[in-house]
Amino acid sequence: MSTTYLENVWYMALPSAEVPTGGMKGHKIADTPILFMRDTQGKIAAIRDICPHRGIPFSYGRMVGDTVECPYHGWKFSCAGVCTEIPSLLPDQDLDCTKIKVKTYPVQERNGAIWVFIGDKEFDTAQAPSLPVLAELAPDAQPNLTFTEIFPCHIDHAVIGLMDPAHGPYVHKSWFWRSEKSMLEKAKHFAPVTHGFQMVRHQPSKNSKAYKIFGGPTTTEITFRLPGVRLEHIKIGEKSFYSLTALAPLDEKHTQIIQMGFWNIPWVSLLKPALRQFGKVFLRQDLEAVRKQQEGLAYDPSLMLLQDADTQAKWYFALKKEWAAHLAEQREFVNPVQETVLRWRS
Ligand code: FES
Ligand SMILES: [Fe+2]
Repeated sequence: MSTTYLENVWYMALPSAEVPTGGMKGHKIADTPILFMRDTQGKIAAIRDICPHRGIPFSYGRMVGDTVECPYHGWKFSCAGVCTEIPSLLPDQDLDCTKIKVKTYPVQERNGAIWVFIGDKEFDTAQAPSLPVLAELAPDAQPNLTFTEIFPCHIDHAVIGLMDPAHGPYVHKSWFWRSEKSMLEKAKHFAPVTHGFQMVRHQPSKNSKAYKIFGGPTTTEITFRLPGVRLEHIKIGEKSFYSLTALAPLDEKHTQIIQMGFWNIPWVSLLKPALRQFGKVFLRQDLEAVRKQQEGLAYDPSLMLLQDADTQAKWYFALKKEWAAHLAEQREFVNPVQETVLRWRS
């Protein structure tokens, strides 16, 4: 596996809804072909999406009960990656097919998303950066809205593009967002959190129109955690709105962005069609910028990370480096982020 992705981390692989009960879906995360399969009890599993017999991806086959049937010669494999049947064998041909196995990947499912662990077999997955917690919602809260987009870039560019505060007035220049004319000076308080950092709870800026739809006293807090998970928690009085963005590298040049919205505010559900539209347009604007950026990056220019507006990007690279270093040196992870106030105009 390439070393430009983080290893020993959980990546959000798919929205849960994409793998129905008794169904499967092939996907690629960090250059790894993975078959996500859900048994008839609803339990999710992940196995390598390559048949060990002659290499065809299982995802071209079909689910038969709790097993996947290879499309080539019909070998069946369980969710545990164990071969359960080889149809071409005669009863007197003695072969224990359960000795044939495919690699499995740790998976967990939470709040309507399937997460897969990419890393070493020996690594204690509990030591990986934790999954986002929607503390103010029911533990099994499901997303009210989900968008998926593939950005044609390396995950680093997708991450720093999404956390970059200075592109808003230029890239998201729409009537419902803002223009460069309404740029204001911002000062935001940041603090380290485990494996990441947080823009601590504050009232949104006066020129952030998107927050106005909530009316009333609104505060927001934004947390970023490795390997590429951003969670914004907007509080409107006692109620909550969460925006979760999870990035996963498909390969060096493609990054999956899954964006989910959760809320417990009944009237926000009335705005669902508008929010869906808003979210789609917003993500497409980022996608368009990334696409154009690729034209320039093709010439391998040297790039700059400048002052406070780019500090979060610097932190991302520092966190990523520290993650790799603490693994290599077999020591505790030391968060490189210091508590500070960052100032910029946007
Ligand atoms: S290639 Fe899968 S059963 Fe032969
Ligand atoms: Fe953006």
